[in-house]
Amino acid sequence: MKYVIVLVIAIAAIAEGAIYTVGDDMGWMVPPTPDYYASWVSKYYFVENDTLVFNFEEGQHDITVLTKEDFDSCNMTNPLFQTPEPGAVSVEASDTFYFTCSFGQHCAKGQKFAIYFAPAPLPPSPSPSASAAADQSLETRLFKFVTEKKGN
Ligand SMILES: *[C@@H]1O[C@H](CO)[C@@H](O)[C@H](O)[C@H]1NC(C)=O
Ligand SMILES: *[C@@H]1O[C@H](CO)[C@@H](O)[C@H](O)[C@H]1NC(C)=O
Repeated sequence: MKYVIVLVIAIAAIAEGAIYTVGDDMGWMVPPTPDYYASWVSKYYFVENDTLVFNFEEGQHDITVLTKEDFDSCNMTNPLFQTPEPGAVSVEASDTFYFTCSFGQHCAKGQKFAIYFAPAPLPPSPSPSASAAADQSLETRLFKFVTEKKGN
């Protein structure tokens, strides 16, 4: 599968969907256990246009999205999406995405997760829950990426 990534930066935009803080209070870092982020993902049900907030100290980590193959082998050669800045990523597609950090051995040490965004219910309705944790993100830039599958 081949993806085309379009990066849009909106200032102080408010996302349509629910907002989740990756890793909750721990944020985005090399986790204490390799399955930490998989456990975090399994706590929630994500739908398209939900927003993931990555909290970390700039220069210590980044946000990298890989193909499944590259994610499995922690190969950072061809990221689908990458930003050095902490902030919010809004996923405007229903698909599975593979997030990691490209720094050092962070991926191999478990700073990574696969996440599935289900198709949004119709009609789209506001999500009342899961938004309280990330108020500060609304002041930061909102990174959005849109993927399109090309061919088969
Ligand atoms: C990483 O992926 C690139 C292509 O995306 C490939 O050329 C390279 O061999 C891969 N590296 C490893 C170590 O698998
Ligand atoms: C998701 O966001 C895109 C771009 O803003 C919009 O076109 C689409 O309708 C949204 N999907 C849902 C289900 O709200």
